[in-house]
Amino acid sequence: MRVLVVGSGGREHALVWSIAASPLATEIYCAPGNAGIAEDAICVPIQATDVEGLVAFAQKERIDLVVIGPEASLAAGLADALEKEGLLAFGPSAKATEIESSKGYMKDLCTRIGVPTAAYKRFNDREKAAAYIREEGAPIVVKADGLAAGKGVVVAQTVEEALKALDACFDGSFGDAGAEVVIEECLEGEEVSFFALVDGDHALPFSSAQDHKRAFDGDKGPNTGGMGAYSPAPVMTEEMTETVMSTIVRPIVEAMKEEGRPFKGTLFAGLMMTVDGPKVIEFNARFGDPETQAILPRLRSDFLPALVVAAEGGLKHFDLRWKTESCLTVVMAAKGYPGAYQKGTVIRNVELANAIRGVTVFHAGTVQTDNDLLSAGGRVLAVTGEGSDFREARERAYAGVEAIDWEDGFWRSDIGHRALK
Ligand code: AMP
Ligand code: GLY
Repeated sequence: MRVLVVGSGGREHALVWSIAASPLATEIYCAPGNAGIAEDAICVPIQATDVEGLVAFAQKERIDLVVIGPEASLAAGLADALEKEGLLAFGPSAKATEIESSKGYMKDLCTRIGVPTAAYKRFNDREKAAAYIREEGAPIVVKADGLAAGKGVVVAQTVEEALKALDACFDGSFGDAGAEVVIEECLEGEEVSFFALVDGDHALPFSSAQDHKRAFDGDKGPNTGGMGAYSPAPVMTEEMTETVMSTIVRPIVEAMKEEGRPFKGTLFAGLMMTVDGPKVIEFNARFGDPETQAILPRLRSDFLPALVVAAEGGLKHFDLRWKTESCLTVVMAAKGYPGAYQKGTVIRNVELANAIRGVTVFHAGTVQTDNDLLSAGGRVLAVTGEGSDFREARERAYAGVEAIDWEDGFWRSDIGHRALK
């Protein structure tokens, strides 16, 4: 099969790496890719949101399956455009992607069909929103409606902080995404990223992970796209998985099908494990980053047929096998991330990390020049360790991190602290 993976992050490197292990893959392309991906696929310089360019490339190269990584490509209608040309795509339509791109749609849907989620209200009027915040008190959560790269959410511990977040939304910090805000109840508990493959009709559980959203050790500092993850999430027992499938995933898949916007691709439920059971914080219409870098090394089955069957339909008769090993990934980011940071700084010895038993380095923001590997983004590498338990997986991941020489990078030193407790 000729496969095109769309995107350029650590998630896409893990997708490419996993697909490359399939005996069914004859040629793998990635658009636009990065320096690490270039070792497993042919990178083509087409941006992930260049729908026309990607469709034209897929046609010209007779691509059998397009695997779409980022939400921006999905929201731009890439899956729709490919399907219109008779090309097979793994990833939901733009309409179905609204489960991620419109928090308002997601919340309304959950409420209508009784999927447990935080109580919320939507506002497009600053004064009314402020009055609601004062009435409800803190802690309270303020979210920009729409895509804001994971940075449009403030979990405010005081009313003042919530009002400040509200101002940021209405003053245009997030562009159009802030024209409407969702204000919601603050949920308490352990957070889990739960994934299911969906073919529009049927959902197949696809493992779980726990992310580390905050920039610094001890879960301090600003929210980021994710600084590290481990898989599986220890709280996701077989029984809990069935609870999540029956109370959350299947009702959503069913309702979206009935609405005429069937969901195909990866349904990623961001869950809070509250004392009243799992509740949805958010849905994403794609694989997680960095969760994918901790999940895919654990997959024993061939990944490619799973993607094809999800895209074509037929998951009902499909199953996946997983290793018993644990996996943990540490994100190495550019100093300053998630704020301003430098690009073009030199990274050395990635090959030494890759040479360590059980260690795989996934690239996110990297470019290769004639002589050097350079940083090219905020999150730059995800160093993954596999082991017979979390302790071993973590030791290996950090041994990989220590082997890498990157003066301008930083990382959390406590990834997996919850799993080891
Ligand atoms: P999101 O961009 O929706 O994933 O939100 C980013 C992070 O904010 C989540 O991963 C949670 O840690 C936190 N968060 C969002 N909504 C809530 C909520 N209702 N209660 C508590 N924490 C939340
Ligand atoms: N790591 C969370 C996400 O991919 O949205």
